[in-house]
Amino acid sequence: MLLKFLSLTVLTALVFGEKVRYDNYTLFKVHPESEEHVLFLNDLYELNNGLDFWVPPSEVGNYVSVVVPPEMKKDFEHSLRKRSIYSQLMMDNLQEAFDAQLMSRKKRSASHEMFWTNYQPLDDIIDWFEYLARRHSDIVSIITVGQSYEGRNITGIKISRRPGRLSFVLDGGQIGADWLSPTILTYFVDQLIKGENPEALAASRNFDWHIFPILNPDGHEFTQASVRLWTKNRRPITSSAIGVDLTKNWNSQWGIIGGSFDPAANNYIGQGPFSEEETRSFSRYVEEIGSNLAGYLSFRSFGQRLLIPFAHSTTPMYNYNEMLLIGRRAMGSLSAAYGTQYQVGTSRLISTGATGSSDDYVKHRINPPIAGTFLLRDQGAWGYTLPVNQVLPSCEETFDGLLAIIREARFINVL
Ligand SMILES: *[C@@H]1O[C@H](CO)[C@@H](O)[C@H](O)[C@H]1NC(C)=O
Ligand SMILES: *[C@@H]1O[C@H](CO)[C@@H](O)[C@H](O)[C@H]1NC(C)=O
Repeated sequence: MLLKFLSLTVLTALVFGEKVRYDNYTLFKVHPESEEHVLFLNDLYELNNGLDFWVPPSEVGNYVSVVVPPEMKKDFEHSLRKRSIYSQLMMDNLQEAFDAQLMSRKKRSASHEMFWTNYQPLDDIIDWFEYLARRHSDIVSIITVGQSYEGRNITGIKISRRPGRLSFVLDGGQIGADWLSPTILTYFVDQLIKGENPEALAASRNFDWHIFPILNPDGHEFTQASVRLWTKNRRPITSSAIGVDLTKNWNSQWGIIGGSFDPAANNYIGQGPFSEEETRSFSRYVEEIGSNLAGYLSFRSFGQRLLIPFAHSTTPMYNYNEMLLIGRRAMGSLSAAYGTQYQVGTSRLISTGATGSSDDYVKHRINPPIAGTFLLRDQGAWGYTLPVNQVLPSCEETFDGLLAIIREARFINVL
């Protein structure tokens, strides 16, 4: 979060039931070109003094994405200039971008149709799932794996056209501020059920699909009601700190790299692996599928990367080389529609190396042939404020990427 500075704002907003505003908050993309630059940015990051890092510093050559409150902008720019650190101002008023995301929502008709030209709130998704389960009761069922801290269902949908198939499990919405992955996963649901595209139909016939668009329903709701940039779940940790970053709370190399042990930080990893009901209950669900699991893919904003296990390592483990080949070819297919380029590799190689992710956990525990995390659009121009006109293209290209993963995996006899 915006840490100390924002926590005051958040308190005020909560007391008055208002939304936190981001007027004149700016988004920067910073390019560290030396170890010194990285060290300096790391110091800023660990200071927790009001800067909100969407992409924290990792290594030379990896960009940093950071939101700067208006009263800190001058100092921030000055401190970068002094050290000759190159930065780009990507956006000069975050609030405008958020307003544009909101205004375009709620264009649904009463006919139970879903639209992928806007972001979708939790209630709309659940209503639509219930409608699908009634309308296609032969192939669709609703699954509740547990409840969030605030008592919301952690809900997914299962699509099964024939019994006895291997399964794919897809998760999204672990980060509250990420509105893109839930919308992308509902698009997948729609495509798999409709089966208009022959390859999509084959995918839905050949596998059972377990799709959970919002693993963090409390965080998701909180970003809509109060604090647009909230990332964590909403469980109180101390008297003044709330929430755990679910993307780092899974029991795989937990706490080794990335994330924070400080409960006030927006990437707080929790008191231990699976300290949170959201991750714990979902992991139990996936474990029950066990060796029937063909693939596990996690989706979140942002960075245009396909991360493959394991985050902490640069050494190929399990079927890393196969997965790298599948991923690279599939991301080539993903780019065909709109030219969106993805990198493929372990998080340590191409991202922050943060451990404790869901795909690493599942790979380690169950070892399905396919496992990975999609970091969706974009590369820091918009980040969590990705405009609604990019929602449908993101859905389409990511679905192309998913089908291509299956195709390429079959091609080299991994599936
Ligand atoms: C944002 O900046 C503009 C231009 O500097 C200024 O006129 C406006 O009052 C600022 N808005 C807020 C809410 O601070
Ligand atoms: C939560 O899920 C249970 C079981 O699927 C269902 O009976 C209940 O109505 C759901 N609650 C809400 C608030 O949707």
